[in-house]
Amino acid sequence: MTTPAVLSQKTIETIEWTSEGVVMIDQTRLPREEVFVTCRNYVEVADAIRTMIIRGAPAIGVAAAMGVAIGALQSENLEADMPAICETLAKTRPTAVNLFWAIERMKQVYASIRTQSLSQVRERLVAEALDIRAEDIAINEAIGRNGVDLIPDGKTVLTHCNAGALATAGFGTALGVIRAAVQAGKQIDVFADETRPFLQGARLTAWELQRDGIKTTLITDNMAGHFLKSGRIGCVVVGADRIAANGDVANKVGTYGVAVLAKENNIPFYVAAPISTLVLTLSSGDQIPIEERAAKEVTHVGGVHVAPEGIEVANPAFDVTPNRYVSAIITERGVARSPYNESLRALAAKS
Ligand code: MRU
Repeated sequence: MTTPAVLSQKTIETIEWTSEGVVMIDQTRLPREEVFVTCRNYVEVADAIRTMIIRGAPAIGVAAAMGVAIGALQSENLEADMPAICETLAKTRPTAVNLFWAIERMKQVYASIRTQSLSQVRERLVAEALDIRAEDIAINEAIGRNGVDLIPDGKTVLTHCNAGALATAGFGTALGVIRAAVQAGKQIDVFADETRPFLQGARLTAWELQRDGIKTTLITDNMAGHFLKSGRIGCVVVGADRIAANGDVANKVGTYGVAVLAKENNIPFYVAAPISTLVLTLSSGDQIPIEERAAKEVTHVGGVHVAPEGIEVANPAFDVTPNRYVSAIITERGVARSPYNESLRALAAKS
């Protein structure tokens, strides 16, 4: 197995603040086309989140913060407009808590400066959104450093969905750990689940890792069990959309099955996520809302209708992996292990 010690490509710019508006790489068109979309107002930012032009929990948090900032820039009466701006952005996707976390952070900044001049308020909200973006990259790098020792040298890492640079402001959470392990000289390669129905693994993870020169093999979701049993996989690393106080993890649908199969085969199952993904007020994953997406994502493959007309379809975008399947949760503040009620609370309290 040959793995380059130095990553060959610069990290992808997932989302940027420009004088024209909020610029995002269109993730619905990757890898066929590298097209950038400019959102010129907060409604366009909300649409981009809803339609998954931008997706991945930390990335949609950054997008929401920038949405609030662009809304502030275009409002002449922010006191009147702020609730509608925040509500429009909050209604886009229900599961990834980073969205609500970022909006709340922007609201709190606004509340602390609302009596200042409109131009001062606008400037401060733009600065806060840019801070959230910059912090996210630094957080992911710290997650990467904290996870390196968990990745076995000379083995394959299995991942599900895309928790990479595209799902964050840069570097990635699960893929950040993989990138950090490669940078540390570990000889690893990656198995990427295709991640039906939206194909984040086939389209995004495969594209990102190939660009980096990290050896990657694409498999369909139903092959994961076969390879987890084969002895080839050293560990599983995935991201998270919301983590409850007891360590239950909501992530892309299919994650739960991978976690169960990993435990069955004595393979460590790691979750990499920022502390902002943790919600200590939720005692278990049963309280996490699961997004239901359009039936068309299931009935159509590559724009072709593959199912009979009129068939009932279920399309939950996420599932919850119970904490007993989670070997460790890697955060920017350290690594939490069971019992999670204690270890996660300790990390959350750490500054
Ligand atoms: O529906 P998506 O593509 O937004 O779902 C993304 C995931 O489930 C990711 O694994 C998760 O958000 C973590 S991204 C660092």
